[in-house]
Amino acid sequence: MMRVLILFAHPALERSRVNRRLVDSISELPGITFHDLYEAYPTFDIDVAYEQNLLTSHDVVVLQHPLFWYSTPALVKQWEDLVLEHGWAYGSGGTALQGKVFLCALTAGGSAAAYRADGLNRFEIREFLRPIEQTVRLCKMEFLPPFVTFGTHRMELPDIDRAAEDYRRVIEGLRDERIDFEAARRYPLFNAGLGKILKEVVP
Ligand SMILES: Cc1cc2nc3c(=O)[nH]c(=O)nc-3n(C[C@H](O)[C@H](O)[C@H](O)COP(=O)(O)O)c2cc1C
Repeated sequence: MMRVLILFAHPALERSRVNRRLVDSISELPGITFHDLYEAYPTFDIDVAYEQNLLTSHDVVVLQHPLFWYSTPALVKQWEDLVLEHGWAYGSGGTALQGKVFLCALTAGGSAAAYRADGLNRFEIREFLRPIEQTVRLCKMEFLPPFVTFGTHRMELPDIDRAAEDYRRVIEGLRDERIDFEAARRYPLFNAGLGKILKEVVP
């Protein structure tokens, strides 16, 4: 079993519709550590040693957040700047995260169609995630295609429930080592390859 850490960042969880439901579907799963960054650090005063210990004691890191201005909420940037230290996460002797698996799980107000070259946002969602992707690779982790829930503004409850169910399947698959990494590399989004990337549960 892989130890899965969910790093969750939403500055207003009380007003969330979609992340709240996604969180509810996974936070109580056995073998999962759920860590709410805005709850832990309302003043952005991050405990670096604590965060580094959390990372080293898990095999899989999931960064879950709403997309804010084509990026993460601000606390994630602060977390990256402080926690991913030179000589620890990257650079000479920086091997603490080597071999771990990293997944972005984000929600976006914009529709999937808006995240195309001919759409409102002009770029694919993977383009906006490039700084995270390269940070993850620099830290010698495996970057999985992101799990993206698009069109949150217009989602009805059944759509949200379906997204939450898919998210739970992904997190359970990561925990139970049922990920086909070769297949994952062929898909831009985890959602697009869900049936291929996740291996079946063997009864
Ligand atoms: C400050 C702010 C910036 C946002 N920027 C974007 C954006 O760049 N692209 C996008 O698709 N949605 C954007 N949104 C919409 C959020 O991604 C959306 O509200 C969120 O995914 C909904 O999830 P929730 O119900 O968990 O809050 C933004 C929302 C806020 C509040």
